[in-house]
Amino acid sequence: MFHDPDFTPVRTNEQPTFRSALRNFLENWPPAAYREDFWSLSGIWPIIPKTVYLSDPELIEEMLIARPEAFGRDKLTTAALSANIADDALFFSEGAEWRWQRRALAPAFRHENLLALVPIFAKCAKAQCAAWRQLPRNTAVDVTQPMSEVTFSIIEHALLGATGTFDRARYLSAMLTGFKGMGWQRFYALLGLPKWLPFPGSREIDRKLRYLYAETARLVAERRLAGHAHAPAILDLLLSAKDPETGRMLTDGELISNLYGLMVAGHETSAVALAWSLWLLAKDQASQERLRNEVRDVVGESDIDRNAVENLPFARQVIQEAMRLFPPVAALGRQPREDTTLGPYKVLKKEPIYVAIWALHRHEKLWDEPNAFDPDRFAPEKAKGRHRCAYMPFGAGPRICIGMSFAMLEMTTILAALIRDFRFTPVPGPRIELSPDFTLRPKGGLPLFVEAIKPTAN
Ligand code: HEM
Repeated sequence: MFHDPDFTPVRTNEQPTFRSALRNFLENWPPAAYREDFWSLSGIWPIIPKTVYLSDPELIEEMLIARPEAFGRDKLTTAALSANIADDALFFSEGAEWRWQRRALAPAFRHENLLALVPIFAKCAKAQCAAWRQLPRNTAVDVTQPMSEVTFSIIEHALLGATGTFDRARYLSAMLTGFKGMGWQRFYALLGLPKWLPFPGSREIDRKLRYLYAETARLVAERRLAGHAHAPAILDLLLSAKDPETGRMLTDGELISNLYGLMVAGHETSAVALAWSLWLLAKDQASQERLRNEVRDVVGESDIDRNAVENLPFARQVIQEAMRLFPPVAALGRQPREDTTLGPYKVLKKEPIYVAIWALHRHEKLWDEPNAFDPDRFAPEKAKGRHRCAYMPFGAGPRICIGMSFAMLEMTTILAALIRDFRFTPVPGPRIELSPDFTLRPKGGLPLFVEAIKPTAN
């Protein structure tokens, strides 16, 4: 077990405040969140609806796995994300529409098919290593930025194949600007204010989102024209997806929404999880060394391939433990379709319900020393008896993240490649603060010293 005061970066308020609702909503979660199974928040202002939170695996299982049809996406998340992910994409679709889109996308995300992408993961990781080898000695690097770049280049290759011709840096930076409006949009929805009301930076954000939509539409049109004269990519699967029952295909609007939705969902979460993993390993040098030894034993100096990536158990454990302490998605929302019950509790149609993933992953009843970093919690013998909803960075039930295997293979490949070639150490500075938005990002990034420990590339 490795302890560090930075592993508990949230100071909880006695009473919820507007400031925290806007800046870091985790501060408004009471101490009971880490001890109780069901709690609620109200009282910032009388017009704000009560929001209910779950930190109990049984209740979460009932909502997400046993009775998923009784709960839709919640209104606050929908309001916060709707500028970034369109409502006709898989993420927001519901009922029969969701089922067929999910079926259409599923083959691309099967584990066996994903193993074919491991060379792409390895190539992009290697490019990052090459870039870091050019750094002067003892340079401090905010690792969140390069992790966004490497996971974005992976999702670009996986979705578009080699023929996508676009300005990756401009697209990625527009996307990161686009995320900045989410806190305000959630806050406006909380107060029942209209979406079109301006907020600091909103004009710039609108401009970037318009560019992103136009650029994604251009990519879809370009691919339609190119036909099959290229290596097949996930976008081709979307273009040819047909509902076996009705013969229906995705409309242009749905294609654009899904391509963009996958660009967003498919890189930002993995980037954040990788950045936290590197930062935790920089703090815990013994785990970092253990991981380096595992990679050297399994892979040596070769490229990481599909066999190697499935034989790096400690790398997976590190990533799992990083996503326990710093889950990229800190809360998962649902809204009851009707007034109903959940376990012994009454829940109302007008009240959003959140799976409090951040609190669940640090719950006193579920974890020994919940705030310590200990990748061995995920060793098979320790994980065996754990409730399936005690740990859920990817959600659970039919709407579980479709990209889960993609993300695990991708992150394992990248982490292994980086740790083999570089030593990471913390940069002294003030305590970290969280700035949760679309994902659980740290305020001001995660600066680390990155030191090459192997002079040349393979
Ligand atoms: C560390 C990486 C990732 C994390 C932590 C993560 C987490 C999540 C979570 C919590 C959900 C919501 C589940 C729910 O509402 O019940 C979700 C949904 C989704 N994720 Fe991920 N995700 C990751 C990577 C990816 C990747 C790599 C892709 C695609 C390439 C992806 C695509 C999606 C999509 C399309 C959905 C919506 C699924 C649906 O509603 O059916 N995610 N993800």
